[in-house]
Amino acid sequence: MEYRGPDRNLCDGPDFSHRGRRAAVLSIGWMFEVREKPEMVERALLVRFYFDTREADEAESLLAELGELVKTLGIEVVESVMPRCREMQKKFLCGTGKAAEICELARAHECDVIVIDNGLAPSQQREWEKLADLCVIDREEVILDIFAKRAHTREARLQVELARMQYALPRLARMWGHLDREGGSGGGMGGGAARGMGEKQIEVDRRLANVAIDRCKRELEHVRKQRQTQRKEREKHETPHAAIVGYTNAGKSSLLNALSGADVMAKDMLFATLDTTTRRIELPDGQPLLVTDTVGFVRNLPHRLVEAFKATLEEAVLADFLVHVLDASSPEIDRLHDTTLEVLKELGAEDKEVITVLNKTDLVTDPDVLAALDRKFPGALHLSALQGRGLDALLKACSAVLADRVRCREYRIPQRRADLVSLLHRDAKVLSTDYEKNDILVRAVVSADLAGRLREYATEE
Ligand code: GTP
Repeated sequence: MEYRGPDRNLCDGPDFSHRGRRAAVLSIGWMFEVREKPEMVERALLVRFYFDTREADEAESLLAELGELVKTLGIEVVESVMPRCREMQKKFLCGTGKAAEICELARAHECDVIVIDNGLAPSQQREWEKLADLCVIDREEVILDIFAKRAHTREARLQVELARMQYALPRLARMWGHLDREGGSGGGMGGGAARGMGEKQIEVDRRLANVAIDRCKRELEHVRKQRQTQRKEREKHETPHAAIVGYTNAGKSSLLNALSGADVMAKDMLFATLDTTTRRIELPDGQPLLVTDTVGFVRNLPHRLVEAFKATLEEAVLADFLVHVLDASSPEIDRLHDTTLEVLKELGAEDKEVITVLNKTDLVTDPDVLAALDRKFPGALHLSALQGRGLDALLKACSAVLADRVRCREYRIPQRRADLVSLLHRDAKVLSTDYEKNDILVRAVVSADLAGRLREYATEE
């Protein structure tokens, strides 16, 4: 289970880390259960429906990506299918016959889960599970579960928890289906009584879920306020700030590691980073720069997760400029590039200055491919975060972006204003310090803002 404590154990997504089947009904204190589902699945059949031949290519690449996401959960992908449907059907998305064929295929492969890339409405999910007698999930549920496993800080955990509860809310009713059936088959209680009991319990669960959601929102608000205070503190220091953005697995954490020598988790798995990490680095001209690693983007990122992670992604919005990392070795580079731009637009960060970086160029050995990438992304820097290649050029590009914000100045500061000397040591790059009578002469590389504040002490403009 991801969330502990009586008031935190609010609902569960498909946590596949334990074997066995989870008890269907729980409603103690704050707890409510969403539906019965296996606690560990191992073999998945993936499905992506498409409705127009023009969508075939995209469907294929989405399906491949879904495969990566599912593998990230430690589930084996046994087969992927891409049925074309004439039109979208209400019950299963596809027609009943096609749905039955898919369920048959899953059984033939001894799959224990069917993952449907298209979003499923709660009623459709229920129909699929009834027909297949298997766990059936959609892309959103997969991503929610990955996020739940990767969230480490309090804020990230709260964000994921909120998103999962919101996802779970319309699915609460499903767990009572078995009560209806049991009641209908005779036994001690009549069907009507059992159904009545179930319905009442659903109301209780809904209320509990809503209370839990409100409580989670309040906690999140509190944590965000704390972070805003920290951010204001940082802004006061006026150190310029860059955010590394890009598709999941592009190499953002690796780049931050390479730039800062820090040990940010870099893993060949999707969404390794859910919490932002900020490091202070120094540019060649001595200017300090804060660099933040952000959560990776992915196509069809569930909207509620974009919402949930907006606070984290605000780092990107508030940064002075962005470093957009692209995986040069990916055949999907155009789509990855466009998705990132779309998410940035959604966040309101589309007008930021961007340094585009083609990472993993060590994996691109064909010069024609590199030349084609250069044509596609003119001005993009070639880089290998893994081998530390191209970092100097990136640092220079960062300096150039900040060029109009940074300058070398000499200050004559009276000794009684030692606080200003401390300020320079903290927020600028001090090049030399000398003493002349009662003054301290400081040469430093300062930001434009700091230069403005210290203007009266400058020895020359
Ligand atoms: P998310 O946290 O999912 O957003 O991923 P990320 O963009 O932070 O990617 P990360 O730095 O975790 O790297 C993903 C994988 O790519 C890891 O296995 C890295 O070792 C690998 N990688 C990163 N940069 C390079 C590179 O320049 N060359 C090669 N060959 N592999 C790289």
